[in-house]
Amino acid sequence: MRLIFLGPPGAGKGTQAQILQERLHAKQISTGDILRENRAKGTELGKLAESYMTSGGLVPDEVIIKMIEAELEKLQGGFIMDGFPRTVAQAQALDALLEKRRTPVDAAVLFNADRETLVNRLTARWTNPRTGRTYNSITNPPRVAGVDDEDGGPLVQREDDEPETVAKRLEVYERQTAPVIEYYRNAGKLIEIDALAPVDDVTRELVSKLESSERAAS
Ligand code: AP5
Repeated sequence: MRLIFLGPPGAGKGTQAQILQERLHAKQISTGDILRENRAKGTELGKLAESYMTSGGLVPDEVIIKMIEAELEKLQGGFIMDGFPRTVAQAQALDALLEKRRTPVDAAVLFNADRETLVNRLTARWTNPRTGRTYNSITNPPRVAGVDDEDGGPLVQREDDEPETVAKRLEVYERQTAPVIEYYRNAGKLIEIDALAPVDDVTRELVSKLESSERAAS
């Protein structure tokens, strides 16, 4: 499948993409993870992205679009775009790239959640920077604090999860990313899910709605 995961920071896009990528035969492509990896390696792209990311703003469209083009070239099979597109210009560029490959997006999934929940989730999030796997010290703690259950690697808190930066990211989402919802609604591709439910329930709702939309399309 070729899917877009849309929604505010902390809505659970990354969590569900990790759970579903094997089941849906679709590779998770997280623009945030790719940028963080580049920053960790000190690449030109990482250096360029740094100030935007630490302030909670968006990295310029042309940089992100070039990055996605490179990802699509490496890709065989389906994808889950996690955190992309974040502006209407990015959505239009993605459609143009996919049109060339004759592989249109199947659906865009919107994760709905309220602001209070998002802030609480982000300030309690712990991430394995190597794999991108996330935990939450309140709702989904690791067995040993600060250590990944799966690979024993260290868990860290993201610097952009501090309350002030979270507030800025939510404001940027409302201003720049919310219009992308209408873009996919107008294309008849939007699926909405309740992202406030427990992780397993969100997975169930998502899979069931994707199956219904696949049946309707065939
Ligand atoms: P990015 O890394 O994409 O961050 P984001 O979109 O702000 O999303 P998050 O990763 O914060 O949230 P999520 O929805 O994935 O939630 P998660 O599953 O982790 O972007 C970072 C920065 O990079 C941007 O600010 C920007 O600067 C730049 N950037 C990235 N893409 C860009 C683009 N396309 N254009 C321009 N700039 C770009 O869950 C959050 C927490 O909640 C976790 O602790 C998790 O365990 C917990 N949780 C998840 N689901 C549930 C549940 N159902 N119940 C209880 N807890 C849950």
